[in-house]
Amino acid sequence: MPGPEQEKLRILIRHAAIEKRVRAVAHRITRDFRGERLHLIGVLKGACIFLSDLVREINLDTSIDFIAVSSYGRGKDSSGQVRLLKDLDTSIKGLNVILVEDILDTGLTLSYLLRVLRQRKPKSLRVAALLDKPARRLKPVKGDYVGFTIPNDFVVGYGLDYAERYRNLKDVCVLSLPPENT
Ligand code: IMP
Repeated sequence: MPGPEQEKLRILIRHAAIEKRVRAVAHRITRDFRGERLHLIGVLKGACIFLSDLVREINLDTSIDFIAVSSYGRGKDSSGQVRLLKDLDTSIKGLNVILVEDILDTGLTLSYLLRVLRQRKPKSLRVAALLDKPARRLKPVKGDYVGFTIPNDFVVGYGLDYAERYRNLKDVCVLSLPPENT
């Protein structure tokens, strides 16, 4: 896999396993919301690949929107500050909303977004996350639909980045950096 020499990648979850799990999560969502309209909100940019695979496996009347928040900047560590960079295009009042995240880590982003979205009076508000890293949680949040629970490693691929790179990898990989960059 391409990338700077000193950055090492180890496959954690293969693409075939991701595909299978995404399909199962989508079927669960389809069952849970049978007969209802659904509105998915993807958190840019990390969730874009998960959302695009997920939505195509959901068999319901579904619309999508995106929201963007600041999180890790160029490095691996969260600043602890969350800012809204791009708001929703349309109102969510009265809608069944699923917020789609790439990964739940400290939970700072999710707790901020849930607060913002709840104020807009959706009919229901749930959370789907491809990955969950509970070891790093600072806020008591959890996903309603979680793809995989993973150990406390920094991961890239399938939408997740390090300094905007590696989002295009099909597998989810653990990234190890040379000591001066960690
Ligand atoms: P949280 O606010 O700490 O829960 O983190 C939210 C955001 O940080 C995620 O949506 C990711 O974009 C990013 N993030 C957290 N852990 C990782 C990781 O292991 N790899 C890449 N991005 C991560």
